[in-house]
Amino acid sequence: MSAYSLGPLLHEGKAKRVYATDQADVVAVEFKDDATAFNAQKKAQLAGKGQMNCRISALIFEHFEALGIPTHFLGVDGTNWMLVRPVQVVPLEVVIRNVAAGSLCKQLPIAAGTRLDPPLLDLYYKDDSLGDPLLTDARLRLLGLVSDGQKAAIEAMAWRVNDALLALFGGVGLELVDFKIELGFTADGALVLADEISPDNCRLWDLAVADDNDRILDKDRFRQDLGGVVEAYGEVLKRVQGCCPEPRIYG
Ligand code: TMP
Ligand code: ASP
Repeated sequence: MSAYSLGPLLHEGKAKRVYATDQADVVAVEFKDDATAFNAQKKAQLAGKGQMNCRISALIFEHFEALGIPTHFLGVDGTNWMLVRPVQVVPLEVVIRNVAAGSLCKQLPIAAGTRLDPPLLDLYYKDDSLGDPLLTDARLRLLGLVSDGQKAAIEAMAWRVNDALLALFGGVGLELVDFKIELGFTADGALVLADEISPDNCRLWDLAVADDNDRILDKDRFRQDLGGVVEAYGEVLKRVQGCCPEPRIYG
């Protein structure tokens, strides 16, 4: 018997559906098999992707809670469902880049694979209709989305996440190239990590593989039509589940 019942659909995103539950302080997230890229101009169904991302995210959130990094995670239910605390998501995509790849190399004369020391933190305005534009400090202030103090807290949390993910993935032979996170405020005003952490929003390269394409274990396999997307996510899961605590089951 589940400890909750599903309420209405609150929001459908590209990779997840978010439902209310009969408990005001719990929302249910269903991870879908839909894969999208380039602001959903490219779409596919990849059987098993939702399940992989749900489990990888749950393992990482549980690991983060143990490290004292606050998240919205409350537990899992079955293979594709995660129960989380409702949060007011800050409409910012926070990206940290340890190695140059993706849009950075399209927009600046930096070769893919160049180590970024110190790493680069980029903030994007989360709005699909605008194509999630890159923000400057001045534009962020103009939008008035967050106070200077909240911005500092968001960036500090992103750096903690980077340190934790570098250690986690580095320990299992994976290079953390870059990642995107989203954060939100709970009803009592606490800043927590929200959304998901999975190969959909991290670039991960197998350190034991030299070939530029074969080493890719993330959504770039889908973006670049390399095939083997779910198999690559499975490899990431296999490695992280060896070094994270087992995620709580909700209820
Ligand atoms: P980018 O190189 O395309 O800017 O992506 C940087 C990182 O952010 C990469 O790990 C993929 C992730 N990402 C998302 O999770 N969602 C997005 O919409 C985009 C554009 C990137
Ligand atoms: N997440 C975006 C999309 O689904 C972009 C990307 O990941 O490439 O279209």
